[in-house]
Amino acid sequence: MLRLKLKSKEVKLEKIPKHIGIIMDGNGRWAKKRLKPRVFGHKAGMDALQEVTLTASKYGVKVLTVYAFSTENWARPQDEVKFIMNLPVEFFDKYVPELNKNNVRIQMIGETHRLPAETLNALKRAIETTRKNSGLVLNFALNYGGRAEITSAVRMIAQDVLDANLNPGDITEELIANYLMTDHLPYLYRNPDLIIRTSGELRLSNFLPWQSAYSEFYFTSVLWPDFKRAEFIKALEEYSRRQRRFGKV
Ligand code: FPP
Repeated sequence: MLRLKLKSKEVKLEKIPKHIGIIMDGNGRWAKKRLKPRVFGHKAGMDALQEVTLTASKYGVKVLTVYAFSTENWARPQDEVKFIMNLPVEFFDKYVPELNKNNVRIQMIGETHRLPAETLNALKRAIETTRKNSGLVLNFALNYGGRAEITSAVRMIAQDVLDANLNPGDITEELIANYLMTDHLPYLYRNPDLIIRTSGELRLSNFLPWQSAYSEFYFTSVLWPDFKRAEFIKALEEYSRRQRRFGKV
């Protein structure tokens, strides 16, 4: 049982999700409401991410996987793509030092080798700097797509069968999970217990389709830049009230 304070009221949480996936949606609309360019929303979204990460880390969450850029996002206007690709560079200078102090470890999933060199370098530096930390893993999904992930796993499995390193009869759910991009996460925390999506959209959008088979979902109309500590705690409260049965009674 975890007790914490929210606006001078005590909140009790029976259980805390170990792995949370977040679809950080609504940055563009948040900026538009303020008559600002969309990229202004992405900047504000980074502040929200920092606050949520530090809060999650404090309450014992082990992994936070955040959907920062999907394989479909390349179709956005060039200027916006360029801006988003530059966020990791800013992230490294402005946010990583505080995360590092809080024992947060940074990792990533996605077809990250296809990212611009500067973006990739900033991420690699963040990963390297925080490599020895043993606290929360902040796992960035960048140029990630769930179907692409499964396709690539199937291809690698087929190759291993062809090379006679694997028998088709040995292909189990556990084995498949080892070929997915989340295989670098601690074994017990590979699958999200809770998936949060902000901004009122009610879909998964190709985010962790295999790993979310038994996840609880939390949808809120709050736009991502406004999703700060209080909103995050609301999601934890809701999760704490859910009963997870994994198909049993
Ligand atoms: C979705 O809002 C948000 C994104 C596509 C980008 C999210 C990125 C961050 C919050 C920063 C991540 C940080 C790093 C270091 C990569 P949207 O643009 O789809 O909003 P809309 O639906 O209102 O248009």
